[in-house]
Amino acid sequence: MKNHKAQFITLEGVEGAGKSTQKQALCQLLDANGIRYIETREPGGTPYAEEIRALLLDSSDEIPQAKTELLLMFAARAQHLETKILPALERDLWVVCDRFTDATYAYQGGGRGLPGGWIQTLEKLVQDERVPDVTLFFDVPVEIGLTRAHRRGNLDRIESEDIEFFERVRRTYQQIATRDSGRVITLDATVDVELLTEEMTSRLMSRWGLKCRPG
Ligand SMILES: Nc1ncnc2c1ncn2[C@@H]1O[C@H](COP(=O)(O)OP(=O)(O)O)[C@@H](O)[C@H]1O
Ligand SMILES: [Mg+2]
Repeated sequence: MKNHKAQFITLEGVEGAGKSTQKQALCQLLDANGIRYIETREPGGTPYAEEIRALLLDSSDEIPQAKTELLLMFAARAQHLETKILPALERDLWVVCDRFTDATYAYQGGGRGLPGGWIQTLEKLVQDERVPDVTLFFDVPVEIGLTRAHRRGNLDRIESEDIEFFERVRRTYQQIATRDSGRVITLDATVDVELLTEEMTSRLMSRWGLKCRPG
């Protein structure tokens, strides 16, 4: 791939939408086209940031305040962005990241009800103008996502919130996708894995002008 600068790609959606499943398919598409990339995730992505992740997602006796949660998300993001994501992009490696700042707007903003202006302030501080080049938003009704996620296994602290919380999360994602339709590709994630992969692959192949399908 000579035509494109290294792309920063994020995957978003409620629990069980299929992010982790489709991330593998996305990596196969990049492999098939000889694109070099790193895979990572948020919160976390570096040893230090993964320690913050554990603090955020583990259940303990003391529940973090919403504000604490927000600040820790961005603390982890600052470390991840500066020590892993930006260095990779500078070396011309694409970056495939499971969740990023849209998740903060969706969960801490929509879900927890923190003001979007606070998130914008922290986004500016931590990222300056840096945003993903492409975001794949896997949109699925909350009940379907949660049923899949329960089948997958144990839920972490945030995944254990109630259905109304995730409805607000989904709505916020949808608003972001509408507002930022140049960056965000919305995919109907209710369909089966293969069909969803097919749809994602087609959209990305045409967006980037890729020639090779995986497999
Ligand atoms: N399109 C799909 N249809 C049905 N089940 C799916 C689909 N995508 C993923 N799954 C299953 O649902 C569960 C959650 O998928 P996963 O990719 O881990 O979601 P996420 O990473 O968004 O939480 C897994 O058990 C996975 O096999
Ligand atoms: Mg996942």
